[in-house]
Amino acid sequence: MDINPIMLVHGGAWAIPDDLAESSKIGVKNAAKCGYSILANGGSAMQAVESAVRILEDNNVFDAGHGAVLNADGDVELDAIIMDGKTLAAGAVSCIKNISNPITFARSILEKTPHTMLTGEGANRFAEKLGIARIPTKELVTEHAIQEWEKYHKYKQSVTNLFNTEKVHDTVGAVAIDSEGNVACATSTGGITNKMVGRVGDSPIIGSGGYADNLVGAVSTTGHGESIMKVTLARLVLFYMEQGETPQESADHALEYMKNRVHGRGGLIVVSKTGKWATSFTTQRMAWAGIEEGLLTYGLNPGEKFQEPPAPLI
Ligand code: GLY
Repeated sequence: MDINPIMLVHGGAWAIPDDLAESSKIGVKNAAKCGYSILANGGSAMQAVESAVRILEDNNVFDAGHGAVLNADGDVELDAIIMDGKTLAAGAVSCIKNISNPITFARSILEKTPHTMLTGEGANRFAEKLGIARIPTKELVTEHAIQEWEKYHKYKQSVTNLFNTEKVHDTVGAVAIDSEGNVACATSTGGITNKMVGRVGDSPIIGSGGYADNLVGAVSTTGHGESIMKVTLARLVLFYMEQGETPQESADHALEYMKNRVHGRGGLIVVSKTGKWATSFTTQRMAWAGIEEGLLTYGLNPGEKFQEPPAPLI
């Protein structure tokens, strides 16, 4: 089967303010270009999604790695998952600290341990054993993350549930299909502002924050983690595809189900095993970008789709 490689990324579904709109678009476009150049040069879907998410983690516009939001203590705890659609092997980390690129660490869990997820202290110890560079928390924290955190503390007397309001940053992710027809997904996040210390969201949970299966396709999700976990959003999209719906129908259907069933909002990107792809979100905005046959498509607002002619590979 001849498959055209496809690279798709998102920078989180939330009410992205106008002052972050342009940098969000540029950020996702750069990440998509990086991932696509790997695919176009014969690289694997796993390598492409890891590399694209690393670019997003290094960009402090997004809630992952540098730019992560702060927990109730004003600290940074990071979650990530990567999944290989060929073998169904996944690697995930949760509640890790002082690491720039949780997605690469998650891939090490997949490749170097018999386990799927490491968390907290054990994960941090394993990172040290692997020689992964540790960085001071302040290097991950942005002025915007501090402002979001302060808003919670200022308004905590009057606001009962800010967690599901789309007002805060959320998550990055990537999906890809390579020229051999292998799919993969990767998702990385700082979670939600003012989360309890030790809270783990949907992002590192297999079937919720992401899922990849060569027999169906690959999904990366973003949005309110407690809602996403209740409906296992990533796997739900693939379930609808298995029932014969297109990727777009499945993406819309799954997000609508989550909205109606548990009042949760979010977004996702999906690529099918046959090289069809879709994006969808029920929040105000989600920055996303995809490349197929060198053609870059991207958007931010509902229904928006811009295209750019083939760009030179980076
Ligand atoms: N979707 C990210 C989180 O809720 O942690």
